[in-house]
Amino acid sequence: MSQILVVVGSLRQESFNRKLAEAMVKLAPPDCSFTFAEIGDLPLYNQDDDANQAEPVKRLKAQIAAADGVMFVTPEYNRAMPGVLKNAIDHASRPYGQSAWAGKPAGVIGASIGAIGSALAQQHLRNTLAYLDMPTLGQPEAFIQVKDGLFTEDGQIGEDSRKFLQGWMNAFLAWVRKHA
Ligand code: FNR
Repeated sequence: MSQILVVVGSLRQESFNRKLAEAMVKLAPPDCSFTFAEIGDLPLYNQDDDANQAEPVKRLKAQIAAADGVMFVTPEYNRAMPGVLKNAIDHASRPYGQSAWAGKPAGVIGASIGAIGSALAQQHLRNTLAYLDMPTLGQPEAFIQVKDGLFTEDGQIGEDSRKFLQGWMNAFLAWVRKHA
């Protein structure tokens, strides 16, 4: 049984990336459990607070510690990951030497209305995950362009993308098990 923490890089109520994350979870076998990290109530990172981290930061770090792997689902903002996601990553990487991320296997996926499907945001995020010593699934990459039919009415992945995204989920879960 794998315990996966899902971190979505958008706070938007109707976020496509949240919908994507929720639909991806439905592609996983029942012996996997998924927790969605809440990053919208984290304060702005301030190094002065490292010795006295806020409760939402402690909660995030505990969720990461309890997870076997982390699935990042990110939009692209101005050719990079959104600030809210970077803020969450920075919080859980501190204090120095006490990063919650170190060694946790990760997968990166994302959706955008643009043609490159969040590719540059994902690459930006991968740089940070490499620095944080998170072994990150390399292939398959998944740059999802939001189009009609991506999701079914009941929130599943639509038929055209299902086989590909099922393959991504299978590879990600195998990656997490490999690093257990
Ligand atoms: C965007 N968007 C965007 N799209 C893209 O493909 N490349 C980009 O660099 C940007 N930049 C960007 C900046 C900002 C501030 C916003 C608000 C949006 C569009 C973006 O892909 C679209 O709004 C998605 O719907 C955002 O993801 P969620 O919130 O639906 O998950």
